Amino acid sequence: MNITVQQGEIQKKAADVLVVNLFDGTRPSGASGAVDKAIGGQIAAAIDLGDFRGKSGETLLLYTQGRVPSPRVLVIGLGQAKDFDLEKARTAAGTAISALAHLGAKNAATILHGTGAGKLAVAAAAQAVAEASLLAAYRFDGYRAHDRSHPLKKLSVIEIDRGKLKEARQGIQRGNSIAEATCLARDLVNHPGGDATPAYLARTARRLAKSQGLRCQVLDEKGIKRLGMHALLAVGQGSANKPRFIALEHGPKSGAPLVFVGKGITFDSGGLSLKSVEGIRNMKTDMSGAAAVLGAMQAVAALGLKRRIVGLVAAAENMPSSTAFRPDDVLKTLAGKTIEIISTDAEGRLVLADALSYASRYKPAAVVDLATLTGACVTALGHHASGLFANDDRLATRLLNAGEITGERLWRLPLWPEYRQQINSEIADMKNSGGRPAGASTAAALLAEFADYPWAHLDIAGTAWSQNNKPYVPQGGVGLGVRLLTQLALDWSDKQ
Ligand code: BES
Ligand code: MN
Ligand code: ZN
Repeated sequence: MNITVQQGEIQKKAADVLVVNLFDGTRPSGASGAVDKAIGGQIAAAIDLGDFRGKSGETLLLYTQGRVPSPRVLVIGLGQAKDFDLEKARTAAGTAISALAHLGAKNAATILHGTGAGKLAVAAAAQAVAEASLLAAYRFDGYRAHDRSHPLKKLSVIEIDRGKLKEARQGIQRGNSIAEATCLARDLVNHPGGDATPAYLARTARRLAKSQGLRCQVLDEKGIKRLGMHALLAVGQGSANKPRFIALEHGPKSGAPLVFVGKGITFDSGGLSLKSVEGIRNMKTDMSGAAAVLGAMQAVAALGLKRRIVGLVAAAENMPSSTAFRPDDVLKTLAGKTIEIISTDAEGRLVLADALSYASRYKPAAVVDLATLTGACVTALGHHASGLFANDDRLATRLLNAGEITGERLWRLPLWPEYRQQINSEIADMKNSGGRPAGASTAAALLAEFADYPWAHLDIAGTAWSQNNKPYVPQGGVGLGVRLLTQLALDWSDKQ
């Protein structure tokens, strides 16, 4: 889909569908007022009949019968003006895109949502429209015989005020880059584990490095062993698909970077602590943290951020076999600390332990890791927020703020010393499971042992996969974290 900005009055534009909007309980005004007038008051008539009121997500389809150049008008409800925010703008754009798919529309014209009474800045509103439109139109059809792509090829954003065009174009461009990066992450998550192996993630990283001008380093099994990342090595040793450690770097070669770390378990069978039939389903998604990091690296490069940003991915497949690591084994990590294995299914924290230690070499300003780490986090927060753990309040605040802006909400959970005690081992420095109580916090407590810098951990087990709960997030991989990390990086670049 190609999104452009044009100056003009929307009712005068020729497209398959004109998309305008309405706040809950209001009368047509501005663009919707002009369209309403041009089509004989049909919007007002629908409101008067009680057929439409402008609730968030509500739609009204009208036929113009030759009164204006476009045959259809789609009115999108924005909800109450006082509740309006970027998430509502994305919801409106996503709702429009779904409705346009049903109509088979190839081109459409829309306005920016909420720059008038909703008081959104033009660039932010434009970014929201571009982002949500592209994300709502996303389809994963790499494994289908027939094309099921969204019919919409051209979306024109119509702005009446010449003074706002430049800002609108900048916002659209930013939204475009971020949405593309999110779709890369979605593709990675949606690919089955049999195809998206650790080597596949490494190839993706190399391709990104080439296209975006990033520096890239990949360690194979030998390199991982030579370096002493025995925890990552152990998790991968049961699979024929050998582990990889990936480092991508953007921006200046020196200076304290912002580092992103992703859990890249390309399939989590549980290993010898094998999962159940239900538990193992969809464990191709266990590399969603890695996908977010790769996507975010693409976005920060495409946006040309001035800061040094590093993306690290610990990629392995967790499989049971005669070469697999086992319960009771004791692993020596890159940091030298040892971990007793209680369950081979608590593998994410093991690969992250080594990746977090590796991050130390950069003397980072801050490190954020993302991982589909625990079922316990899903139990605590469901699918509506990712768990946030941090050893640094300033970083936590920045992430919470980025979560509000992007709609990728976070909820902070505790990292108290008691959780660290829960993973004390009889024979090693720690054990890899603290049992059922506070499972998300004990996992984070293990990670905290390896983070000797300002650090935050996002448990995205409940949020990385969508059951179609937002108009701009179709069922499947969410690409969660790309928009969040990019927002954090933008904020970081502005302030430091
Ligand atoms: N990848 C899983 C966590 C997960 C569960 C992600 C559900 C997405 C949806 C992780 O590796 C895991 O198996 N965690 C165990 C830890 C336990 C053995 C201590 C869990 O949460 O049950
Ligand atoms: Mn597991
Ligand atoms: Zn896992």
